[in-house]
Amino acid sequence: MSGVAPQKYLPYEYCRDIQEIIAGIDNTISGDTVLVAGGAGFLGSWMCETLLRLNANVICLDNLVSGKIENIQHHLNYPNFTFLQHDITDPISLHAPIKHIFHFASRAGPLEFKKHPIEILRSNTLGTLNLLDLARKHNATMLFTSTSEIYGDAKEIPTPETYYGHVNPVGPRSCYDEGKRCGEAMCMAYAVQYDVDVRIARIFNTYGPRIRADGIYGRVIPRFITQALLGESITVFGDGSQTRSFCYLNDMLIGLFRLATASDLRGEVVNLGGGTEITILDLATAIITMTKSDSYIQFLPLPEDDPKRRRPDIQKAQKLLRWEPKVGLARGLERTIHYFQQDHDEQN
Ligand SMILES: NC(=O)c1ccc[n+]([C@@H]2O[C@H](COP(=O)([O-])OP(=O)(O)OC[C@H]3O[C@@H](n4cnc5c(N)ncnc54)[C@H](O)[C@@H]3O)[C@@H](O)[C@H]2O)c1
Repeated sequence: MSGVAPQKYLPYEYCRDIQEIIAGIDNTISGDTVLVAGGAGFLGSWMCETLLRLNANVICLDNLVSGKIENIQHHLNYPNFTFLQHDITDPISLHAPIKHIFHFASRAGPLEFKKHPIEILRSNTLGTLNLLDLARKHNATMLFTSTSEIYGDAKEIPTPETYYGHVNPVGPRSCYDEGKRCGEAMCMAYAVQYDVDVRIARIFNTYGPRIRADGIYGRVIPRFITQALLGESITVFGDGSQTRSFCYLNDMLIGLFRLATASDLRGEVVNLGGGTEITILDLATAIITMTKSDSYIQFLPLPEDDPKRRRPDIQKAQKLLRWEPKVGLARGLERTIHYFQQDHDEQN
């Protein structure tokens, strides 16, 4: 596509990411109008990028509370791209005939659970309701980005979609866990009562360029990388034996796109995430090595309700979407470190 020129915000390395995403997609969407709510955030901005490369008309709607205009700056003058600064908790009315809605619009960092719990609940409940009304009006498909957090501290590992969850409804993470659970319930209610074509992606920890680093209690990969690049201590909670399974953004974008656009997936709920489990201590050590940092590891108390293990069962995604992650942790970390390295170099 000629209109989206690679420049400051889309250097060569990230074009390579987009090329890999496009190569993993075989569904055509050319000429369709697609709404990306939360499109200026980490995953949303990559989805806008992907859809533009596939010649869709993209409406990006975002209130910029955790997203950045820089993530979509390079599309602003492109005729197939419209940016609307809007909060999804306010009613949404659009005239263009929308074919697909991607709902990414929610703060999602652990630091934000403490600072903005009401906003998080409102985005995933009231905001989801507004987007479902829009989907109903336009007869559009609606992809809701749910989370592995709805499983809480899961007792079944790897965790399949049939696991009901082990969640503290009044704990410090409940605004996010319960907000997403309610969002899922709303999607299913609109499917049952109004026959809206909803699909739910339960996303497990995903990382890559443009993910935000939110300080000490932020998401673990950007936090470790920034701490390592700054030579600060790497803050590991507990003894670091808790595990996570990480997925690089290219794989996630392909899975999300397939789930949203395939013709026969009405009402499906699908786990998307990395299949390999790693302890947080091993992750810290790997990042120190890869960044050649002098940082040492500092152990801090484990936050309340921190899940001990997290690993998705992805058999359903393998079967329904012919999907499984392809980018290993070493390659994904290398690209993400490079992204943060550039930011770090620009500031020094
Ligand atoms: N990245 C992950 O590992 C992960 C894991 C599980 C689920 N998810 C879900 O995927 C979605 C995107 O996550 P992300 O990592 O890109 O986060 P992000 O914070 O980078 O993006 C969220 C975007 O939504 C916007 N937003 C928030 N509230 C809004 C509102 N009320 N109205 C309009 N825009 C609003 C923000 O400004 C931001 O641009 C979120 O819903 C998140 O819960 C992400």
